[in-house]
Amino acid sequence: MSVLIKNGTVVNASEHYKADIYTEGEKIVAIGKNLPYDAEKVIDATDKLVIPGGIDPHVHLDMPFMGTFSSDDYETGTRAALFGGTTMVIDFILQTQGDTLHNALTTWQKKSEGKAIGDYSYHMAVTDFNDNTAKEVVQMIEEQGITSFKTFMAYKGALMIDDGQMVQLMKVVKENGGLVTVHATNGDMIDSLIAKNRALGNLSPLYHYLSQPEVTEAEASARFADMLHYTDCPGYIVHMTCEGALNAVRHATKRNQKVFVETCSQYLMLDASLYENDFEGAKVVMSPPLREKKDQEALWSGINQGLVQVVGTDHCPFMWDQKLMGKDDFSKIPNGHPAIEHRMDLTFSEGVNKGKISLTKFVEVTSTNAAKIFGMYPRKGCLAVGADADIVVFDPNKEHTISVNTHHMNVDYSAYEGWEAKGKTETVLLRGKVAIENNECLLKPGYGQFIKRGKTSKII
Ligand code: URP
Ligand code: ZN
Ligand code: ZN
Repeated sequence: MSVLIKNGTVVNASEHYKADIYTEGEKIVAIGKNLPYDAEKVIDATDKLVIPGGIDPHVHLDMPFMGTFSSDDYETGTRAALFGGTTMVIDFILQTQGDTLHNALTTWQKKSEGKAIGDYSYHMAVTDFNDNTAKEVVQMIEEQGITSFKTFMAYKGALMIDDGQMVQLMKVVKENGGLVTVHATNGDMIDSLIAKNRALGNLSPLYHYLSQPEVTEAEASARFADMLHYTDCPGYIVHMTCEGALNAVRHATKRNQKVFVETCSQYLMLDASLYENDFEGAKVVMSPPLREKKDQEALWSGINQGLVQVVGTDHCPFMWDQKLMGKDDFSKIPNGHPAIEHRMDLTFSEGVNKGKISLTKFVEVTSTNAAKIFGMYPRKGCLAVGADADIVVFDPNKEHTISVNTHHMNVDYSAYEGWEAKGKTETVLLRGKVAIENNECLLKPGYGQFIKRGKTSKII
């Protein structure tokens, strides 16, 4: 299949300019003005932006969590991602404590193979570090192309590892060219605040928020950065929400450390006032919780200062019936919310259209930086000759309203119901094939490929 995208504004992380793009098979073959190719398909991108396919490096598809499973699987989740201009996701494999990384990998391969429509990779979550895990970490990097290792400083008894295990993991990962990522909140402090609130009969979703104050995230982020410094390992903090945690990273960068930061679209758009709506607040019960307006400002500034490199989603949807598991006790509400479909549109609408970030910064934080940090650049994350033809034709002026009635995620509510956005994904190519056109998905389950990733040390 060959495709010619004509007359668009091509945007990369470094610059934007008017040009055509010609693709053949899975790759971009030429970029330039008035390209002289006869293509099987021509897309007119006049007045449109042409951007690299989005990469969301933080999603949870079909994930066992808090006694249930996230409601999007690889088929529905990657399809919804494509509708929103995200052509690749990185999901999390969870090691079961007492079991091996390889067994966890097999479980996740069964979830994804033959089902994914969009491209994907995995982070490996290490929940039980021992001598055998250390050997498996090396095998994951060398044989499987899984080069990032997720850790949890919270969710004790299920996912959390202690600081001793963390430091040992960092040493092995550092020696073998990988990256350690972290859910950085102080699990012990949070558990004691949850216990206190439950004992006092404070059981509504508001107390989910009040049990995870900013200090729990700031402290853990600083501790993680210190452990990275001690081991000289590169690290990545997922779903950062607040000024205190960002300041911990600001401090670490003065030591010239590699500490990358991801925030998520919801932390830029939504705030903690939503927890005041009684049980409605369950829709945005996630960890860490939504924060204050001042934190949103700090995160937008952090993006512009280069301290925050990535905007992901932490997409972890649950149906309303699943949220009702915590009707009488906030600590039983499955944590997470749906966002995979709206990350690009919302970040453009609130960021670029409202003047908070530039067009090139938008591409950087929604695609290019994730490709670089996670070892896929320049195959993914840019519009360049030889790169995968993962391309989004984006209408910067299209006004639309977000609603459960029109979204494609497998979840029966939207945290953004009625939100008016300006800027919308229109046509999407994934490895040269038209994936989304005229609001329809043209690709079938199984088209999505597992992308082996390179060593972090070679890229960043
Ligand atoms: O609330 C969240 N974030 N759910 C998914 C698991 C995690 O901590 O990322
Ligand atoms: Zn997390
Ligand atoms: Zn997550």
